[in-house]
Amino acid sequence: MERPDLSGQVAVITGGAKGVGRLFAEQLVQAGAAVAIVARNRALLDATAEDLRQGGATVVPFVADVTDRAASRAAIAAVHDVLGPIDVLVNNAGVANLGRVIDVDLDFWWQAFEIHVKATMAWCQDVLPQMIERRSGRIINVTSTAAVWTIPGGSAYTASKAGLSAFTRVLNAELHGTGVLAFAIAPRLRSDMTDHIQASPAVPSGFRAAASQQTDEQRDAQRRNTVALFRRIVAGALDDHAGEHLESESPPS
Ligand SMILES: NC(=O)c1ccc[n+]([C@@H]2O[C@H](COP(=O)([O-])OP(=O)(O)OC[C@H]3O[C@@H](n4cnc5c(N)ncnc54)[C@H](OP(=O)(O)O)[C@@H]3O)[C@@H](O)[C@H]2O)c1
Repeated sequence: MERPDLSGQVAVITGGAKGVGRLFAEQLVQAGAAVAIVARNRALLDATAEDLRQGGATVVPFVADVTDRAASRAAIAAVHDVLGPIDVLVNNAGVANLGRVIDVDLDFWWQAFEIHVKATMAWCQDVLPQMIERRSGRIINVTSTAAVWTIPGGSAYTASKAGLSAFTRVLNAELHGTGVLAFAIAPRLRSDMTDHIQASPAVPSGFRAAASQQTDEQRDAQRRNTVALFRRIVAGALDDHAGEHLESESPPS
């Protein structure tokens, strides 16, 4: 797997403290970027930043709830002040928020859309002007295979991720000619979120069985595929596929 070179670049990743976000933050650090990680849990953010700084990398934690516009704008301004203009924005923060349509709490259900769709839209609105002015930048939205799956109990997750993939397609079309590209990546990685889905009675056991029966080798392969696709995106190798819903398990050749 070739490592992209992002020396001198600034990357921001929401939900960068653990799981997929941490994995992508590691890739950005290894590529030489200065990295800002954003999430709500300060203790975990600080611990992750400390880990990722081993070896001398620049990794700065910023506490913000991505659905809080004022806090998000303050974080974006702070990144700009501390690290410089943003070259790569990864909208990764996410929640599963499971529950059947018949009885799930509506506000809990809608929160998935607030995080996956509305917050992504807001962060794009607030970061894009500086990218467009510099005629360079990459927005990477973390979607899910669930966007095209049927998961009973997962309507908030699947529908909001489908919305995010559609949003990314349109955003990339609107950005045509600006020098800025938007990508939608569907990763696969065992994480707190996938463990939560595995344990949830809201999802029928038949839909959970496949993941729970995975071997360590299969999980390692999913991790490698996720890293490989992310690296190709940040390296510019998939610029012709900007806007598409890109799956780590079936990447473009
Ligand atoms: N793991 C997979 O196989 C998989 C597959 C497809 C898609 N994805 C997507 O990948 C992304 C990360 O998932 P994951 O599996 O790594 O889950 P995870 O381990 O639960 O991590 C979620 C991250 O998002 C942050 N977050 C959640 N709500 C937030 C908010 N309102 N504001 C700021 N940060 C928030 C969390 O930090 P705080 O709680 O501290 O805020 C955490 O860092 C999600 O968008 C998910 O849908 C994952």
